Amino acid sequence: MSDQISFEPPRGMRDFYPEDMTWRNKVFDAFRAAGAAAGFEPYDACVVESYDLLARKAGEEVGDQIYHFFDKSDRHIALRAEMTPTLARMVAQRQGSLPFPIKWTTIAQCFRYERMTKGRKREHYQWNLDIVGEESVLAEVEVLGAACDALRRMGLSDADFKVHVSNRALLSELLAASGIPAERHAQVFLALDKRGKMPDAEIAAMLKDGGVDDAGVAKTFEILNLKSLDELPDGPAKASLQELFRLADIAGFGKCLEFDISVIRGLSYYTGIVFECFDAKREFRAIFGGGRYDNLLTTIGGSPATAVGLGFGDVVVTELLKARLGADAAAPKKGVYVGWMFPEQRDAALALAAKLRAAGEDVNLALRKAKPKQFFARAGASSCAKAVFLGPDDVAAGTAKMKDLATREEVSIGL
Ligand code: HAM
Repeated sequence: MSDQISFEPPRGMRDFYPEDMTWRNKVFDAFRAAGAAAGFEPYDACVVESYDLLARKAGEEVGDQIYHFFDKSDRHIALRAEMTPTLARMVAQRQGSLPFPIKWTTIAQCFRYERMTKGRKREHYQWNLDIVGEESVLAEVEVLGAACDALRRMGLSDADFKVHVSNRALLSELLAASGIPAERHAQVFLALDKRGKMPDAEIAAMLKDGGVDDAGVAKTFEILNLKSLDELPDGPAKASLQELFRLADIAGFGKCLEFDISVIRGLSYYTGIVFECFDAKREFRAIFGGGRYDNLLTTIGGSPATAVGLGFGDVVVTELLKARLGADAAAPKKGVYVGWMFPEQRDAALALAAKLRAAGEDVNLALRKAKPKQFFARAGASSCAKAVFLGPDDVAAGTAKMKDLATREEVSIGL
C-alpha cells in the first residue's frame, strides 16, 4: 500500500463539485416537480439492506454486481443496487394497512459493481416511480406520463427522446406458440435483453444453454423482427398495449411512445408491459426503464400485489442534457452579487446584503475588497444575475446602482 492517499474517489464513484451540483439539482428538481405534479408521495429508506433481500437467483446481471459485506455482528449486509426490493419490503411490512393503490416516489442512491462504460457508473441516483395495487393500464400511463413530463421540464423536447414499449406477456405468448415452454421464458428474456450489446451468435449460445433447440432459436430471432403491433395476434397482451397508446394520446404524450418488441429488460421480476426510454439519436444508454411486476411481493414473502414502476438514473440524462442544451445550460443565473471597494464600505455592503436577503433575494456578498473591474469580472463569471458595487461615493449618497449582468441595465437602489 502506498502512503500517498489518492485524491480520486474510488473507481466508479462520483464527486459533485459545485458545477456538477448545478446539473444534479436541475435534474432532481425536474424529478421532484414531475412526481408531485402526478400525485406521487415521496418515501425513502437506508441505502444499506440485508443481502438476502437483494440476492438474486442465477442469471440476473445485477446479482453479481451487488456490493456486500459482513458487519461486526456477522450480519450479511449489502448496498442497494436498485430501490425496487426495498419498496417491496416496505410495502409488505404494511400491506394490511396501506390505502392501495399507492403511488410512491423517491430519488435513491444505488450501487452496482458495473463494468464501467459511457453512462454506467458504480454509483448513481435513480428516480423511482411506482404504483402498487392497480391492475389497469392507467397505472402505466401515469408512471410514463410523469417520466416524460420530467424530461420536458429538464428542457428536452418530444423529438429528443422515445420510450420503447413492449409486453413480456406478448413475447411469452409468441414463444409458447413457437414451442418454447413457459419455464424457459425467464432464461430466454435475460438472453434476449443482451441483444445489441453482444453478437447474436453469443445470444443464440445463451438460448441453447437455456435449453432452447436450434429451431427455437431461429423462431425467437424471427419474433424479434416483428415491427408493428398490427402484425401480432390479438389477445389480452396486445390489447393492453393498444389501450396504453390510446390513453397516452389522451394524456398528451402518445408521440413519445413506440412499440418495440425487442424491449425485454434485464430484471426477472417483470411480468407485463415493459419499457425503456432512449434519446432519439440512440447515442446514449437507456435514460429510464421499468414495467409491470406482479410477483415481487410474493417472492419476498408478502401477499400478492400487482405493481408498475420505473427507475430513471441521473447519469445518462445529464450527459444527454449537456449534449442537447449546451454545457452552460444547467441553471439560469439568479441572485445578486454585492461587492465593496474599501474596508470603509464593508459594513454598508453587509447591511445591504442583509436587507436584500430579508426581501427574499439570494445574495453573494464579496468577502474581500476589490477594484470595480476586478469585481465585475468575478460577478460576471458567477451564478448571479445582478450585481451591486459599493464605493465611497455610493455610501456617502446612500444610493447605489444595481446592474443586470446580462443586459448591463442599471437601476438606482437606496441603501
Ligand atoms: P434498471 O433498468 O436496472 O431498472 O435501471 C433503471 C435506470 O437506472 C437505467 O435506465 C439507468 O438510467 C439507471 N442506471 C442503472 N444502472 C446504472 C449505472 N450503473 N450507472 C448509471 N445509471 C444506471 C431498475 O433498477 C428497476 N428497479 C426500475 C424499476 C422501478 N422497475 C420498477 N420500479
